[in-house]
Amino acid sequence: MAPLSDRLRAVADALPLRPGLRVLEVGCGPGALAREVARRLDGGYVLGVDRSATAVRQALEGSAPEVAAGVLGFRRVAVEDLVLEPGEAPYDLAVAVRVGALDGRHPDAGRRALVRLRDALAPGAVLLVGDGAPLRQVPLHGPVRDGRDAPHPWSDL
Ligand SMILES: C[S@@+](CC[C@H](N)C(=O)[O-])C[C@H]1O[C@@H](n2cnc3c(N)ncnc32)[C@H](O)[C@@H]1O
Repeated sequence: MAPLSDRLRAVADALPLRPGLRVLEVGCGPGALAREVARRLDGGYVLGVDRSATAVRQALEGSAPEVAAGVLGFRRVAVEDLVLEPGEAPYDLAVAVRVGALDGRHPDAGRRALVRLRDALAPGAVLLVGDGAPLRQVPLHGPVRDGRDAPHPWSDL
């Protein structure tokens, strides 16, 4: 199981967690942060997504108790392709740590990801990105719907 690094512990400490929260971690890797957040949540749920099958397999292998308890899940998907499953409730908080599609390194992917995240997140949800704590909040809503004809949220990064 991937241990929780001091860097990811600081991220967990910085998240605005509250009871019942549904948290989406993008680019969860082997699941250390998602697992820690699931342990801290009272009555909530964490979904970790990653485009790497190896990462998701490692995350699942290291999280059997939390997955069995129904507080944590993992899914192999690129955030640019993320779509909620039928009946899946939207998420209240999204976090992405060291994920190029969301930290401004890959703006085209970032624009596509943002469209998907808008649909996967509840009204009032917050998207936090960065390398570690402190994280930066990325605006989710504005004039851009498809990223093709207006300034995008990464333009000021
Ligand atoms: C540098 S690692 C960071 C892992 C973890 N968040 C951390 O900070 O330790 C980036 C992770 O994001 C995943 N990733 C990169 N781009 C992605 C995308 N577009 N959608 C989903 N996962 C992505 C990679 O597969 C990898 O597991």
